[in-house]
Parts: sequence; structure tokens; C-alpha cells
Amino acid sequence: MGLLLALMGVTAQARERQSFDKDWRFVLGDSAQMAKADYNDSWWRQLDVPHDWAREGDFYVGNPSGAGGGALPGGIGWYRKHFSLDKIEKVFLEFDGVYMNSTVYVNGQKVGFRPYGYSSFEYDITPYVREGENIVAVRVDNSDQPNSRWYSGCGIYRHVWLTKTSPIHVKHWGVFADARVVKGKGRLGIEVTVEGAAPLIQNTLIDPNGKVVGKSKGAKSAITVAKPMLWSCEQPNVYKVLTEVTVGGKVVDTYETTCGFRDFKFDAKTGFWLNGKNFKLNGVCEHHDFGCLGAALNEDALHRKLTKLKAMGVNSVRSSHNPPAPELLNMCDTMGLIVMDESFDMWRRKKTQNDYARFFDEWHERDLTDLILRDRNHPSILMWSIGNEVLEQWSSAEADTLTLEQANLILNAGHDASTLAKDGELSVQSLLTRHLAEIVKRYDTSRPVTAGCNEPSPNNHLFKSGAIDLVGFNYHHEWVKDVPKNFPGQPFIFSESVSALQTRGFYKMPSDTVFKAPKEWWLPYTDPTYMCSAYDNMHASWSSTHEETWDVVKHNPFVGGQYIWTGFDYIGEPTPYGFPARSSYFGIIDLAGFPKDTYYMYQSEWTQKPMLHLFPHWNWVPGAYIDMWCYYSGADEVELFINGQSQGVRRKTDHQPEGWKPGLCTEYHVGWRVAFDPGEVKAVSRKDGKVVCEQVIKTAGAPAKIRLSVDYKGKNTAFITAEVVDKDGNLCPWADDDICFIYEGEGGILGTDNGCQTSMERFTSPQRKAFFGKCMVVATGNGSITAKSATLQPDVIEFTF
Ligand code: GAL
Repeated sequence: MGLLLALMGVTAQARERQSFDKDWRFVLGDSAQMAKADYNDSWWRQLDVPHDWAREGDFYVGNPSGAGGGALPGGIGWYRKHFSLDKIEKVFLEFDGVYMNSTVYVNGQKVGFRPYGYSSFEYDITPYVREGENIVAVRVDNSDQPNSRWYSGCGIYRHVWLTKTSPIHVKHWGVFADARVVKGKGRLGIEVTVEGAAPLIQNTLIDPNGKVVGKSKGAKSAITVAKPMLWSCEQPNVYKVLTEVTVGGKVVDTYETTCGFRDFKFDAKTGFWLNGKNFKLNGVCEHHDFGCLGAALNEDALHRKLTKLKAMGVNSVRSSHNPPAPELLNMCDTMGLIVMDESFDMWRRKKTQNDYARFFDEWHERDLTDLILRDRNHPSILMWSIGNEVLEQWSSAEADTLTLEQANLILNAGHDASTLAKDGELSVQSLLTRHLAEIVKRYDTSRPVTAGCNEPSPNNHLFKSGAIDLVGFNYHHEWVKDVPKNFPGQPFIFSESVSALQTRGFYKMPSDTVFKAPKEWWLPYTDPTYMCSAYDNMHASWSSTHEETWDVVKHNPFVGGQYIWTGFDYIGEPTPYGFPARSSYFGIIDLAGFPKDTYYMYQSEWTQKPMLHLFPHWNWVPGAYIDMWCYYSGADEVELFINGQSQGVRRKTDHQPEGWKPGLCTEYHVGWRVAFDPGEVKAVSRKDGKVVCEQVIKTAGAPAKIRLSVDYKGKNTAFITAEVVDKDGNLCPWADDDICFIYEGEGGILGTDNGCQTSMERFTSPQRKAFFGKCMVVATGNGSITAKSATLQPDVIEFTF
């Protein structure tokens, strides 16, 4: 930016924003003394934030978060950091997220308290600091549990920033770059809020090629761009606004904002449109954890997540059910992923004993306002969600009196008509909905307000408010046909969908039978395997298979798209099981980042490149009947061969007007029921008689060696896959060898994972059992990983950044 400013003839740069992540001290424990300036913290552990202490603990059934919260510890922790300042004008400390109940002290004086663990916030610490040495102490209290329906993590789990400015400066989130497309032209409204005396404000707009394309002056101004480079999923064009604040001819502050022009709408008949193109929002819901890395923000892990999702054909992400890390939004801006930015999982009525509901009345206005102010310039965000499955949808709701597990189950159980809004009535719940939507509209009128609603009746108090611009259903795909009748003239999306249940590598046959787990929400579900089937044939009682909901989305033009629950598995909410299950089964990709088979179903429907994915593996009991499935695209048919013998040609079925039904062959996959015969199974797809793709799976022999490969390498984090293979390199699909990872180099091992929902090994352990033949080690710093086990030939891999 310095160079850019220099080129523009701007020299002064009074603002200095620096990372404040390094060299904190941390202790798990609590004492009022820890806030004091002269407290001796020299015995505390030294670490850098982002940090999550919960992921370092043991999975334990007695941890108060319960299996629903990942069965990891909570508690109270303190962080302290010593820092020195020279000339002081204005000094601000900014936290992107602290889970939860954070109290910040500077030099022993309390600066502020923030309960919501997902909000970003800034403190003006000028009155508390002095030239020379200073100390900041942060108390983080996540002891009142459960307070979340999923794993929250504990601590300063996102970045911290220190900003120094002149007394006259742009306020925190003080530039609103409202980029719209009006009659084909780009119209950028720019509002700048400055702290201090009336200065001269100038804005410069720079296009994605670095060219200055407009200038404006004043606190409220506008710039018109005749032919804007539009932001889209394929070409995520991001503009920059440089704001200069000048006093007496001297630039006292410079502030950079990014934004983008795009023309979008949700239409009641035709669904979603972006820049004149009509397509489906192929979305996923994501929680914020990174598997074995816990909740601690790691840009490489985040980029890996989004890269894998994009490769599956995902074009949108819902930040369920809370404000995401700013880095997620920055990446979505530049990667071309559309975002549904969500605020809350509950309003006044609690879903878990100690959740945010207890702070809602006092804090919702502040938290929602901060979310919009922080995020409204992002071109990727196309809708605001004011809540997920809030219990205010009904006049009364049982969930707030139940345990966490019961509440998670009942949420989608359906409620009787007496709990819905009466005709002509404007209930407190509807008024609250209006109030929240009004807060959003106060700061941004360019995007629709939506909410994840699992009460599909138009008499849902939220819908009745008239304040929900975009009708959003969670689940209830059978109700979708009635949407045009029930919500005439209103656009519609699935704000959440599917909730299928799968364990990577585990297959329950017959594959054309759909298993519900549990059968009804109030029934227990047990199975000694603690696994769910990776054929797309298992889901929760309120939900559907992947194919079933996609069928509804695909074949109803008015459906704008869907947000599948979920892209990645996450820690916590191990429906349909309880402890020792401690992470979810809902993901299309497992907790370690290995795709489950359904990943390829979406790839076949959502991406263009011809592909083929045959599964499951070919290691069974001789003679056993096995269902082989194949997802494919860019071809007319697939032929299956076992040891060279054709098992027949299959074609996907045509669309069934009466809707999706389970089967060995559907509109989305083909299948064969065959007798297992060791050797090899091969699938060949053809178009107009020409081979398009083929895949061979061989029966693996005895486990012989470990094979390491790079799954993903980012700026300073490497994700290394370990596979157990036979002497010829075939994956051993049943292998569960205990693998020990040894790191040598400048960094270390950050964690290990294998995608198994019941793995009790610590996330930080350098040892991990292979799960269906695979596990993952995450390491940082130039170096090498050696993988060993008791009986297998070891392997070594080197990586540099
Ligand atoms: C929904 C809820 C999600 C998750 C999901 C599991 O009701 O919004 O947070 O609990 O169910 O199916």
C-alpha cells in the first residue's frame, strides 16, 4: 500500500496497524490478581494467539460441554502481554474474537467486557497506556457450560491488532463503501466517519488492475464507474477505496477499504441471479473449527477448507450460526464464494443452559450492529441472516427447558398449530424480528434479510413479521412444493438442508435402503460401531439424503439454492450418537479433511470437468454381495468389470416427475449388486461410445508400508496424509495401525486427526491410528515428517514454505 500511496502522491501515513498476536503468556486458572499491572506472570506458558486451550485437552464424558460441545474442557483462562509504546496519540486494541466473556485490563485498569464469543471488538486504550512498558491482561470465562450446541473453543482464538492513529482519524469500521450496480453502471456511495475536528476527506477508487478510476471528497460522497468490473464467482473482482484524512494540508490518516460491484437478486419464480446469470446457490453451512487445530484461526486451514469446497463445486458458504472470522470473508471475496453472514443461534430463548440468550437483551443491538458495520463492504456477502432456528418462531417452545441433546433433536420435530401466529396478530416475536431486521437495514439496505427457519408454516412468527425478505427453510423439503402458494411472490432458499449422516469408509448395505437415525427424534439410536453409512443412505429423522434434497433444489426453478448441513465435519454434535462420539457425522468432508464419497456426487452435478468416482473399496469376504456405486459426469453410461468380466452397463435414470426415490440407479448415481471376488474392480464411463474416464480398485494385500503425501501446503502449515498400503501401493481400507509422527525442523506438529468420530486420542498427540487406512498430520515450519508404526515400513516427507 505504501508504494501505491507514493505513486498517488500521498506521503504521510499516520495510521499504523500491527499484529498483536505474538508473545502472550497464558494460564488456565483464575485470580483477581492476574489483572494487576505488577502481577508476576513469568511462570505462565508463553504462546502466540490465535489459541484455543480446549482443543489441547482430553475428551472426557464429564466435561461440562458434553459430547454436544465436543466433550473437551472449558474453564477460565488468562492471557497477558507486555508491550511498549513510544509517542502516544491514539492507541486501539482490536480483538477479532474471544470465546467468551472476555474482560480486558490495561495496566491493571478494566477497559471493557464482551460476552459474545464471535463478535469482533475494539477498545480505545489511549487513556490507560503510557510511554514505555505496558501490560494487557485478558480474562476469558468459558466456565458456564453448556453454552453452545457445537464446539466453541476457548480463548483468544482469532487475531489481535494494535492500531495507532492521530487524534483525528477514521473511526473503527468507519468507511462504508456501498457498491451497487445501477442501470449497468457502478455506483459507489462512500460514507466516512471521522473522530475529531472537521477535516478534509478524500477517497480514491482503484480497480482490480490497480488503476485509479475515480475520486471523491467529503464525509458522504459517490463515485460512478461507467463500466465496472463485476464481482462474480468466476471473476471475483475486488476494488479498493483509499481514504485520506487531511488537516491543514497534512494527511493525518489513510484507511483502506475493499469492495466490489455486483448485481444480484432473488426472484420468487426463477431463484437466484448474479450479474444477469441465473444459477443455484450451491452452499454449505460451516462451523468455525478446523478439526484437530480446534477453533484457533489458521489461515492455511481456512484456505484449505474453502479450496476443497470449491473443488466440489460449492459457490456459497453460510457462516453458521455466528459472525465468522474476518479472514473467511476476505478469502470468500477473493475466491469468489458467496456468503450468507449469520448473527445468532438464539435470541431471547435459550437452547442450552448458559448460552447467549442470557445476554441477548442487553447485547443484541450492539452485536448485530457490529457485525453489519464490520462486514458490509464485503462483495461476497449477499444476505444477512438474523438467526438460526430461533425458538421465537413459535409462541411457546419446549426446547428451552430440555437438555442440550434433546434440544438439538427437538428443534426440527415440528410444532403444533397452537404455537404459531394467529391471523391478524402481531406478536412480540414478530416485533422482535422486525426490530432485528431494522437494525440491519439501518446500516445496509442493499442485501436481503433472511433467517434459518425450521418452522415452514407462513404463520411462523418470524415470517408473520413481514421483515424476512428472503424466505429460508431449514429442512422440510416436502413442504417446498407449497412455497409458491404459502409465500406468494416471495423468493425462497433452503437456508439449511440435508443433514445426512456418514462416516468416511463405512458402508451399510443394502445401499438402496434409506436408514433413519434415529427413526423419530425422541427415540434413542444405538449401534455398536458408532458409525454411519457412507453410501448416501442414512440421515436424521428430520432430514434427507443428499440426493433427495438436491433433487428438489435442482428441479424447482424458484428454489434459489441450498446450504447443506455441513461441508466439513465439525467438533461436537455427534448426532445420532452420544459419547464417545464427539464430532459430527453430517459433513461431506470428514474432520481430517478427507472427502466422503458424496463429495463426488456434488462434483458430478456442480462442476463441468468430466469425472468418475467408484466406491466402496474392494476388500470384502469372498462371495459377499457388495453394492458398487459410481458417480460420474460428462458421459452417457458406465460399465463395471470384475476381474475383466463385465457386470453390465448402467445409465443414470431420467428425472422422475414424482420426485427422488432410493435405488441402485438414480438420476445421480449408478450401482451394481455384485458378488465379491478378490482381484480388481473397474468402472469405465463412455460418451458416444468413447471412453471418458476409468477407475480401477484392487484388492489390497496385507498392510506393508506407510505412504506420506502432501494434502495441502499453505503459507506455513502443511497437511500431510498418511496411508497404510500393501506392498504394491494399494490402500488397505481396513487398516487401523497406530502411526507415530516425528517432526524434525524449524517448527513442529500442530495436531493429528483421522476423521473418526470416536477417536479419543488428543488432537495435539503426535500419534494417531489410521482410520479406514488413513490419517493426517498437521505441521508447521520447514522440516520433515517421519511416520512409523510397529510393523509397517516407515516413510519420510520433507516440506518447505
Ligand atoms: C439444525 C441446526 C444445526 C444442526 C442441525 C443438525 O436444526 O440448525 O445447527 O443442529 O440441525 O441436523
